[in-house]
Amino acid sequence: MRKYSIASIPGDGIGKEVVPEGVRVLDAVAKVCGFSLEWREFPWSCETYKETGAMMPADGIAQLSQFDSIFLGAVGFPGVPDHISLWGLLIPIRREFDQYVNLRPVRLLPGVPCPLRDKKPGDVDFWVVRENTEGEYSRIGGRSGSGEDEMALQTAVFTRRGTDRILRYAFELARRLGRLHVSSATKSNGLYYSMPFWDERFNAIAGEYPDIKTDLHHIDIMAARFVMKPEQFDVVVGSNLFGDILSDLGPGCTGTIAVAPSANLNPERRFPSMFEPVHGSAPDIAGKRVANPIGQIWAGAMMLEHLNEPEAAAMVIKAIETVLQHGQVLTPDLGGSAKTEDLGRAITEQVLRDR
Ligand code: NAI
Ligand code: MG
Repeated sequence: MRKYSIASIPGDGIGKEVVPEGVRVLDAVAKVCGFSLEWREFPWSCETYKETGAMMPADGIAQLSQFDSIFLGAVGFPGVPDHISLWGLLIPIRREFDQYVNLRPVRLLPGVPCPLRDKKPGDVDFWVVRENTEGEYSRIGGRSGSGEDEMALQTAVFTRRGTDRILRYAFELARRLGRLHVSSATKSNGLYYSMPFWDERFNAIAGEYPDIKTDLHHIDIMAARFVMKPEQFDVVVGSNLFGDILSDLGPGCTGTIAVAPSANLNPERRFPSMFEPVHGSAPDIAGKRVANPIGQIWAGAMMLEHLNEPEAAAMVIKAIETVLQHGQVLTPDLGGSAKTEDLGRAITEQVLRDR
């Protein structure tokens, strides 16, 4: 029997509530499809930080490196500054494991009211490919001075290697999806060095893919077009910061960020990849057991896809769509009154019904 070892890190807040629902659905689909998932849970979180002064043990990365994949809930909670929690857990995992692709599908699902007028499933359906290891999120810079003279300096890093490989991934994805169109998020009219370089590399890589149509959008107008004309996008590629913003804006245009998944990929598979929902730990609803688990469950489907179990992945997505379409079991963010666990169970039962 095929076996995969998975490290689960529920993390903080609603991460602890939605991860068990992801595990529930994935275990069910694994059974149906004839493979097994061996889970090991790591309780690393802001509580760990308060107890030990670190978000994870010193050998945390080495421990995780033994697993096929990492299944993460959310990281960050009031009481620990966000830059401490993020740079103490999430970002080291992304960088140490060279997960340079952050892949986020944006899809309007059936039964989810769309905040954009007259849009139906199919109209909003594209992929955001975000660079995940360099760009604007660097630790190069510093602070100096005091009082009126205080200043902060933050340097963005765009290497040719880092830029080319994310662009190439976007073009390869477009081919794999059979949607031969890549849009690049830029701001070469404002950022004097980094974005003209990005555009140059985009055009160079595009030259290797003559079958793929391309366009460049400045990030500001691209944001407007996500809202006004989402139909025009297929694959969107952006730097770390631009991709981060676009991949919340995209799901926002589909009614709720709570259903959106995200994959942090090391495409060469030299290291484990990590799968998580787009949303964070939602301290405002944590502990109430009302969080929508679909982002986590869909992230699980992306994990199965990466583990070369496409049939199981498709079953999970189909079950999510069916349950949403029926509209019987919905969490409050979708206008219902179901608990997290109710929705997780409904999707599990749907998987079993579809087998
Ligand atoms: P958030 O995504 O946690 O919450 C934003 C809003 O969406 C809140 O009103 C929340 O209740 C709602 N929401 C989010 N997920 C939901 C779900 N599954 N079901 C129903 N409603 C949901 O973003 P926020 O408030 O900016 O960040 C909270 C904490 O999470 C911070 O510490 C932040 O650093 C962290 N965070 C962590 C991320 C990660 O682990 N990848 C990503 C984003 C934020
Ligand atoms: Mg984000």
